[in-house]
Amino acid sequence: MKKVLEVENYYKLINHGPCVLITSGNKKIKNVSPVAWITPLNDEPPMVIICVASSHYTAKLINKYKEFVINVPSVDMLKIVNDTGKISGIKSDKFSEFNIEYDFGQKVDTVHLKNCVGFVETKLWFRKDFSGVTLFVGKVVYCEVEKNLYDNYLIPQKAKTVHHIGSNKFFVSSKLIQV
Ligand SMILES: Cc1cc2nc3c(=O)[nH]c(=O)nc-3n(C[C@H](O)[C@H](O)[C@H](O)COP(=O)(O)O)c2cc1C
Repeated sequence: MKKVLEVENYYKLINHGPCVLITSGNKKIKNVSPVAWITPLNDEPPMVIICVASSHYTAKLINKYKEFVINVPSVDMLKIVNDTGKISGIKSDKFSEFNIEYDFGQKVDTVHLKNCVGFVETKLWFRKDFSGVTLFVGKVVYCEVEKNLYDNYLIPQKAKTVHHIGSNKFFVSSKLIQV
């Protein structure tokens, strides 16, 4: 037996990809924020979509510097996900406030997070505003993944990626099922 779900809660049923940390800016100016609303758009050429509130510092930096990096956190980084989602980078340097380690990019000026499962560097390809939210399409130009967490696919029981199901609730990847 099913129950009616309010239409504004539809995303709680379908948006269980990994919650990611988006880094934006350039070599000097940097910001980091969690984003759960993310989806691949294509693999050849590799393109990805993120949806970011237009008022967020993240959106302003992506508009300005035309690139962003998707960092995939493991459950060990959940505190960073929570902390960086509570304040805006307009008001605070989240990297120093929360002691977040970063490295410089390979193909972009935007930094990536040192201890993440992997990261995806993108150059902005397209943007569109939808009543307060900006959809950013990034063209993937470079990515890296931790060797021991990946064997042609992410190893879910080792990578322990975090999946946002709404408000302060997540589940963690734990088991590989092959069919
Ligand atoms: C788990 C989690 C997921 C989030 N997902 C999104 C998202 O998909 N899009 C968005 O615009 N904001 C999302 N947020 C909210 C922003 O990350 C948050 O408002 C952040 O403080 C914005 O910071 P900024 O102004 O430095 O960019 C999420 C927050 C959390 C905690």
